[in-house]
Amino acid sequence: MDNISEESAARRRELKEHLARFNCRVHQAGDPPFFTREPKPDMQSVHWRWSDLQPLLERIGHEVDLAAAGPRRTLRLHNPGLAVGTTHTFWGSIQVILPGEVATAHRHSASALRFIMKGQGAWTTVEGECYPMAEGDLVLTPAWTWHDHVHKGDEPMVWLDVLDISLMKSMEATFFEPYAGDVQPVHTLPDSSWRAFGSGLMRPPGAKPATVNPLLAYPFGMAETALNAAAGLPADPCDDVILEYQNPTDGSPAMRTLGMQLQLLRAGFNGQRRRHTGSKLYYVVRGQGVTTVEQERYEWSQGDFMVIAPWAWHQHQNNTSQDAMLWQVNDLPTLKLLHYFREEFQP
Ligand SMILES: [Fe+2]
Repeated sequence: MDNISEESAARRRELKEHLARFNCRVHQAGDPPFFTREPKPDMQSVHWRWSDLQPLLERIGHEVDLAAAGPRRTLRLHNPGLAVGTTHTFWGSIQVILPGEVATAHRHSASALRFIMKGQGAWTTVEGECYPMAEGDLVLTPAWTWHDHVHKGDEPMVWLDVLDISLMKSMEATFFEPYAGDVQPVHTLPDSSWRAFGSGLMRPPGAKPATVNPLLAYPFGMAETALNAAAGLPADPCDDVILEYQNPTDGSPAMRTLGMQLQLLRAGFNGQRRRHTGSKLYYVVRGQGVTTVEQERYEWSQGDFMVIAPWAWHQHQNNTSQDAMLWQVNDLPTLKLLHYFREEFQP
């Protein structure tokens, strides 16, 4: 190093130290680029196989005591590119509840949802409204609503829990409150939100568009019937047959921060390649197929999960003779609300 550059480096160092005394700074040569030309996410795309997850779930069912573990027994789908979380905005965890167990009541500022993977007989209660959950159902617990689960069935029950925890943490809006008792009182009239809004076609006169979805649950039978009807429409070039779960009062996504979709990839489907901002987690409800993410091939089958990183090229294919069904959760409603959503397609 010559004298001039040594002098210049010393001057920069002195400036940095001086500014730091006043909690100020200027750009330093070693700072990472702030405005990259396109997203450079820390989170990675990941494929979790059911054949790996199943023994892990059996193990935590035997070894993790619900009372000692806290209010929930969960296996987190951890993204190796992040300190915590499945994506940089939300956490996906597989919850196991055994017959007779109670996951005690609480509420939090994170929005949560669950998609039922295996079993039946557990009831979720949200703000006094209870719902008996079954395979394929989507159940919502919007932000700051009291919720608890009681397993009245006779076999272990498994579901995917998703919470927008990392988004909430980035906004420093974390609140949590345990309920005074184990469970909350249950209204005498079950399924009241379903009775009012469940058809998705009609609603009580005077019901106003609600930014917090009033509907507690989306039963699988309803979603599958709608999807089969949509199969008569022209195919989506990337997703074949796909429908989004919506707020029945105004047609917006079922949750304000998280979007959920159900799709059929029919036998022989070969999807168009695309990329977009936002992250998404897939669960394979049934069937087999291949999703190519950048250079990686995820050969998936029933029970598998995969997460796609923002701006990663990806493409779905079903090269089998059976239709496949995927369920997904994504953070696209948040990106669209903030005008950060962008998407590209390859011919
Ligand atoms: Fe919760």
